[in-house]
This record gives sequence, C-alpha cells and structure tokens, in this order.
Amino acid sequence: MITRIAQISDTHLSRTKPYFRTNFDLVAEHLRGERPDIVINTGDLALDGADAEADLDEARDAHAGLGLECRLLPGNHDVGDHLDVARRQPVNAERLARYLRIIGPDGWTIDIPGWRLLGLNALTLGLDLDEGGQYAMIRDAAATLGGRELAIFLHKPLADTAYDEELNSNRFMTSGPRRHLAELLEGTTPALVCCGHVHQYRDSRIGGSRHLWAPASSFVISDPWQPGYGAKMVGYLSHSFHADGHHGVEVRAVRGLVHHDLVSFPDAYGDVRRWGEGNA
Ligand SMILES: [Fe+2]
Ligand SMILES: [Fe+2]
Repeated sequence: MITRIAQISDTHLSRTKPYFRTNFDLVAEHLRGERPDIVINTGDLALDGADAEADLDEARDAHAGLGLECRLLPGNHDVGDHLDVARRQPVNAERLARYLRIIGPDGWTIDIPGWRLLGLNALTLGLDLDEGGQYAMIRDAAATLGGRELAIFLHKPLADTAYDEELNSNRFMTSGPRRHLAELLEGTTPALVCCGHVHQYRDSRIGGSRHLWAPASSFVISDPWQPGYGAKMVGYLSHSFHADGHHGVEVRAVRGLVHHDLVSFPDAYGDVRRWGEGNA
C-alpha cells in the first residue's frame, strides 16, 4: 500500500499581480493527470496574503480548482512573518484570523497507512498567538503514533545544518521555536521534515531526520541575491509513503514551467537587488 502525496510550495498567487499563475496552472494540469492521493502546499500560497485579502481568495480558489484533495499550510506571505525575524509584516491575530477564515485550518494531522503527517503553522510556533491549539495537536500527534512514522510539514526549514545553530535569519526557523517544537515532540524523532520557503530543492539529514525542501512553483532568486543551499529550480516533490514505513521522493519538473527569477518582478516585493549581494 502506497500513498502518493504531491508537495507543492510557494505558489505566490495574486489577483492583481498574477505573475506566477501560469506556472501554477501548468502544475495543476499535470497533477490532475497524475492524480496523487493528496496535494500539500507548504505555504506562501498567496503573493501578499498578509495584507491583501484578495490574494488569499485567489489562492483558495486556485486550489479548489485543482479538483484534488488538498491540505494547505500558511507561509510568511500568507499570515505575516514570525515575530523573531519579522521586518515588515509580523504575524498577528488579525492576519491569522483572516487566513483561518479564507483558507481554513493552519495545521492538521493526516493518518495514512504506516505514517502520520503533521502539518504545522511555522509562523506562530512558540508564540502566545498560538493559544495552545497547535501545541496540543503536536503533543497528541507525537504521543499517539502507535508505531507509525512521523512526517512533519511546515513552511520554513527547521534549520540550515544543525539544530543548535543560532542563525537569526528569516530563511530558517529560529532557535526558540525549534526548541519549543522539540519539547512538544517529547523525544519523538520525525522520519521526515518537509518544507518550502527557500525556493530551492534540498535533501539533507539533521538530528536523525531527513529534511526535504520543496522547490517553489513560482520563482527562484538568482545567485547574486540569495545563497545556493540546494538546487535552484521550479517544480514540486512527489512523495511515496509506504505502509511499511519506507518513503520515496522524486523531484519533478513540469513541461513548460518557466524558471522565473524574482529579480525580474520588482512589482512583487520591491527591487530584490536592494537586499544586497548574497543576502546572507
Ligand atoms: Fe515563498
Ligand atoms: Fe516564505
């Protein structure tokens, strides 16, 4: 028994700035042919859902149009960024409420043969905003695995190379929320941690877990403005979860996808070149 999950990420959809919609539509058409059991989007569903309600509407409608079972998770462009690193749009109660109203739950648990998939809101982890809902869900998910393997899905990578690193970067989870998650897991080591956010594909091992970064469907950020951690590409991940606890993954390209470079879309998030060379 194999459950097939398509992990798409960073779709950055918008009603008023539909720059990346054609790529989404190509992935959608491809997935309708592949018919995975579930499609998971690991966040940045919208281009500016943190401030523009219409962008969240667009993301909701685009995913509904897939005609496949979807589970969505928020990114920093959907609910604002984590307070540890937020520069312009901090996550707050208003932004979170808008996401919950328009998109739906910001976390979930799915049990499939041999596995439990746990989707988390990376932007509220460790904050009072979370009001206990996510904490209880994580504790309960880890405590009642009953022999299943655990796969965590969330927007941001848990770390770059080590859990004890102290990078204060908006590219990765910061050390406080990461420690908080570890405490809630109470010694359970997830087999897999699957994220998006960096717009690069990477496959690495940290702390006994395999960490998979899904490429964006929307755009990459070229080398002068963002370090290369993995492969800069657009596409998605095709996961195979086996009932015996094995897991396989393929990184998929889709015919016709354009490898947009954010530097060519200054109307999306401003002039990327002002972020500085390498933006390390
Ligand atoms: Fe993104
Ligand atoms: Fe992001």
